[in-house]
Amino acid sequence: MKAIILSGGKGTRLRPLTYSGAKQLVPVANKPILLYCIDNIVQAGIKDIGIIISPETGHEIRNAAGDGSSRGISIEYITQEVPGGLAHAIKTARDFLGDSPFVMYLGDNLIGSGIERFVREFMNTSPDAFILLKEVDNPGQFGVAEVSGEGRVLRLIEKPDVPPSNLALVGIYIFSPQIHRAIERIKPSGRGELEITDAIQELIDMGCNVKSLVLDMWWLDTGKKDDMLTANATVLDEWLRGNIEGETDDASRILGRVAVGRGSVVTGSTVRGPVVIGENTVIKNSFIGPHTSIGSNVKVVNSSVEHSVIMDGSELRDIERLEESLIGRNVKIVRNNKMHKALRLMIGDDSVVEV
Ligand code: DAU
Repeated sequence: MKAIILSGGKGTRLRPLTYSGAKQLVPVANKPILLYCIDNIVQAGIKDIGIIISPETGHEIRNAAGDGSSRGISIEYITQEVPGGLAHAIKTARDFLGDSPFVMYLGDNLIGSGIERFVREFMNTSPDAFILLKEVDNPGQFGVAEVSGEGRVLRLIEKPDVPPSNLALVGIYIFSPQIHRAIERIKPSGRGELEITDAIQELIDMGCNVKSLVLDMWWLDTGKKDDMLTANATVLDEWLRGNIEGETDDASRILGRVAVGRGSVVTGSTVRGPVVIGENTVIKNSFIGPHTSIGSNVKVVNSSVEHSVIMDGSELRDIERLEESLIGRNVKIVRNNKMHKALRLMIGDDSVVEV
């Protein structure tokens, strides 16, 4: 069994964060989403991983994931010159995949468990495709499945205007090599992509066995700001372990599960978990509220933050209350008391500021 992780694409929905970086590297609880995908694949016993990258952000993905040797696995990089769709990505990885069955993992998907039991189920029952589904309130934003009582997939459509069910396709799939035959037979969709949903529908039409399982745990597609904040809060709630490696002074109160990385210093502040703070960060005379992730080399001074993500190298100074915010890298937010109530801003393209 091999695995491919899709880390190409354009990442337009997470702009402006993804102007300067790959969306699969946006951190959730201070760890890039891509690394959760790799952990899950390795945990399922798969040692041969191909990562699909784009020419624009491929180098960053390589730097973050490496060649796998430190984990005793092999990671190969496969460049997809244009984001031609998920089925096109499989086509691009054809040489790497050979005739092996494989897991396809979308590099921006997070689920609340490992994938071991899905891989085992695939091995035991040998379908041509094994897909994961999840009941959602907004099925029109995903691939949607119509399923028989026994979990046999009858029909799949990508982002339908009128969804036939509330079962969305989760971005983790397991395929037999039959999928390559199906991909050869499909045409690009209305949005010009070779859709994996169409390829799986083609498998069904070819009389192949497509099995599904409805997930009973959380699933997060981290495409947009609110999805990111929900993913961050969920991962902090479920997986964060309290661990103070940095320093906290006597005037500070650390409540609940809080992780403070090496070299970080918390003084005169209250931190109410679940909260993760990276390395070499300074938190001074501030309140850090639940469900907040603060990266490395960040400064938070005389400020209050909650339910937010503040990425590496950023600075908050004299900010009374920041909440439900997603702040990129090396951003500076400071209050300038001399300027009456005026705002002075330098904001990049596609940013959103609510004042
Ligand atoms: O997240 C689940 C959904 O993912 C499914 O319900 C849909 O059926 C499936 O089509 C997909 O929809 P999205 O519109 O969310 O896919 P997106 O374009 O965001 O791409 C998913 C990942 O694959 C992302 O990490 C980028 C990568 N990708 C995407 C394309 C189009 C590639 O590596 N190459 C590509 O050509």
